[in-house]
Amino acid sequence: MRVTATTQAPRETSADTVVVGVFEGEDVAHDVQDGLLQGLIESGEARRGFRKLAVAHAEGKRWIVLGLGERERFDAERARVAAATAHGRARELGTETLCWEVPHHVGDAVVGGLVEGTVLAAYRFTRFKSDGNDDDGAIGELLVSAHHDVAAPVERARVLAEAANRARDLQNTPSNHMTPAKLAERAEQIAATSDRLTATVEGRAQIAARGMGAFSAVAQGSDTEPALIVLTYRGAGGTAFAPALGLVGKAVTFDTGGISIKPSAKMHEMKFDMSGGAAVLEAMAAIAALELPLDVVAVVGATENMPSGHAMKPGDIVTAMNGTTIEINNTDAEGRLVLADCLAHAVDLGAERIVDVATLTGAIVVALGTTYSGLVSNDDAWAAEVQAAGEATGELAWRLPLHEEYADLVKGRYADLTNAVEGRKAGSITAAEFLKRFVGDRPWAHLDIAGTGNDTGKAYAPKGGSGVPVRLLVTLAERVAASA
Ligand code: BES
Ligand code: MN
Ligand code: ZN
Repeated sequence: MRVTATTQAPRETSADTVVVGVFEGEDVAHDVQDGLLQGLIESGEARRGFRKLAVAHAEGKRWIVLGLGERERFDAERARVAAATAHGRARELGTETLCWEVPHHVGDAVVGGLVEGTVLAAYRFTRFKSDGNDDDGAIGELLVSAHHDVAAPVERARVLAEAANRARDLQNTPSNHMTPAKLAERAEQIAATSDRLTATVEGRAQIAARGMGAFSAVAQGSDTEPALIVLTYRGAGGTAFAPALGLVGKAVTFDTGGISIKPSAKMHEMKFDMSGGAAVLEAMAAIAALELPLDVVAVVGATENMPSGHAMKPGDIVTAMNGTTIEINNTDAEGRLVLADCLAHAVDLGAERIVDVATLTGAIVVALGTTYSGLVSNDDAWAAEVQAAGEATGELAWRLPLHEEYADLVKGRYADLTNAVEGRKAGSITAAEFLKRFVGDRPWAHLDIAGTGNDTGKAYAPKGGSGVPVRLLVTLAERVAASA
C-alpha cells in the first residue's frame, strides 16, 4: 500500500473512498452535496459512537462516516482501531484509493495512528496460497488529507507499520521455511539497505568456540545449523562504535520442547517462537530507515529446539559464555539458555542499556493475556522508558517485580543456576531472574511476548504474528537518541 500525505481536500483527490470521522457532540467538518453526511447523522443512519460506520455516495466517491467517540479519548490507539475499522469496510467495498480526512485539532500521534492502523490492518500472509490471489482486494493507496503538512508523522508511521508487517511475515512463515539461516539471510538483506548497518552471522562451530555452552546445548539437538546474528547500526556519528542501546532477541525457529517434549495439540504454534528475534531485526531496519542518531547493537540467537540422539538431556550441566554454570532440568526452558549467551554477548559488544524480547513463558499468557507484554527490569528509569514507548505505540508492557526470593528459586542444586524452577512459582519472573544473571550491572529490560506476539485479536492485527514489539523498540530508540 502506497501512503501519501496531502493538503488537498479529500474531494479534490483521486480517492474513490473517503473516511470522514465525527466526534461526539460535533458535526461533519466538511460536508458534501449540501449536507448529505450531516443528514445521515441527523437521521440516525450514521452515528458518532466509536467505530459506528455508515456509507454514502456523492461526487463520484464513497464516503464512510465513522464515529470517533469522545474527542478527549481519541488517542493514537483509538486512531489505529478506527483506521482498521474503516479499512475493513473500504476493502469490502472494493476501494482502490482510500483517503482519510484527518479530524481538525488532532496531534501527530493521532495522524500516525491512522496510518499505522491502516497499514497494519491491510496485512495479509498469502505466500503459501497457490492461487496467489488471496490479497485480490488489497487497497493500493492511502492518502492522508489535512489542512497542514503531515508528511513527517505519516512517513514515520508508514516506516514503523511496514517494519511490523515484515516481522509478521517472518513470524508467520513456518519453521521448514523460516530456518535460522533464513533469519540470518534477512539480517544480511537489512544490512544491505544502509551503509550504517553491518551484519555478522556465525554458525554452530563459532557459537561453541565463543564458549556459548547454553546456546550450543539448545542447538545440539537439531540437524539444522543455528545462527548467532549480530546486526550493528552506527548512527551516532562518533569515531568509535558506542551502542547506547542493545537489542537481544530469542529466535527459536521451532520449539518442540526437546526431550521434555511439548504436547502435540498446539505445537504448531511454536513456529512463532522466533518472534522476539524477528521483531529485533525489523526494528533495526526501521531504525536505519529513519536514520536515528544513535548506535545500536542487536544480537539474535536463532536455533531449533529438537529432541534427538544428540539433544541435551534433563540434568545436563552446561557453562554459559560468562562462566555461569547451568543445570538443564527442563529442555523446554530453552529460551533462557539461548538468551543467556546472547545477553552476555551484547554486554561484551558494549551495549549500555539492553532490552531483550522473547516468547519466553506460557505463564505470561496466563497472567497478562494478549493485552500486555510482561516487563521485568533491574532499573526503574529504564523500565519507565520502555513502558512509555509501549504506551505511545499501543504495544503495552506491564512490569512485574524482581525479588531476592525469586532469585533464590533459580539457584541450582549442582550448578549455579537451574533453568527450570520446581513448583512453577511465578514462572515469568523466575525466567527473568535467570536472564538477569547475564547482564551484569547494565540497565536491562526483558519483554515477554509469549501472549502479545501472535493471535492478539486486535482490530489491526487479529490473527497470526502481531509484529509486537517492533514499533515499541523503534520508539524506544528514538527516545534514547533524543536523551543522548
Ligand atoms: N516458547 C515457550 C513459551 C511459550 C509458551 C510461548 C506458550 C508461547 C506460548 C518456552 O520455550 C517454554 O516452553 N517455556 C516453558 C518454561 C518452563 C518449562 C519452565 C513454559 O512456559 O512452559
Ligand atoms: Mn520451550
Ligand atoms: Zn521456547
